[in-house]
Amino acid sequence: MATVAIRTLPDPVLRQKAKRVTVIDGSIHKLIDDMIDTMRANSGVGLAAPQIGVPLRIAVIEMPGEEVITLINPQIIKRQGERVVGEACLSVPGYQGEIKRSAVVKVKAQDRQGKEFRLKGEEILAQALEHEIDHLNGTLYIDHVESPDKLQRLDRELPL
Ligand code: NI
Repeated sequence: MATVAIRTLPDPVLRQKAKRVTVIDGSIHKLIDDMIDTMRANSGVGLAAPQIGVPLRIAVIEMPGEEVITLINPQIIKRQGERVVGEACLSVPGYQGEIKRSAVVKVKAQDRQGKEFRLKGEEILAQALEHEIDHLNGTLYIDHVESPDKLQRLDRELPL
């Protein structure tokens, strides 16, 4: 495992649409391990592969006190409700913003073995799932900020 530098704005890899993973081999497992290491080293709650410069549809999420969730080729299959949240991102260092996210999301993805699974996330997990899957489509949370006054210097939010 290794820690990798986090790509930050305006790195173009953050704006690319990431490609689907077709073969899950040792190189993908190493990438996932590096993502987990890098997320932890930066005290992040989630990380998407483009954030370390790899435009593939892979994300990891580690809610405090929970096991790591690895998502390969994740897709949101259902969204419910809406809530206003504070959000931050390791690729947009120094800032946090207020945006709207779904209250509940259901996601379909593959695990590290390639096995398909479904996951329902509420509140912060729903927020993390939407945030990381946005990354795979080249979208950042700042794109959801309604006005510049909703973007502030970072003091509190855990970055995703
Ligand atoms: Ni992020």
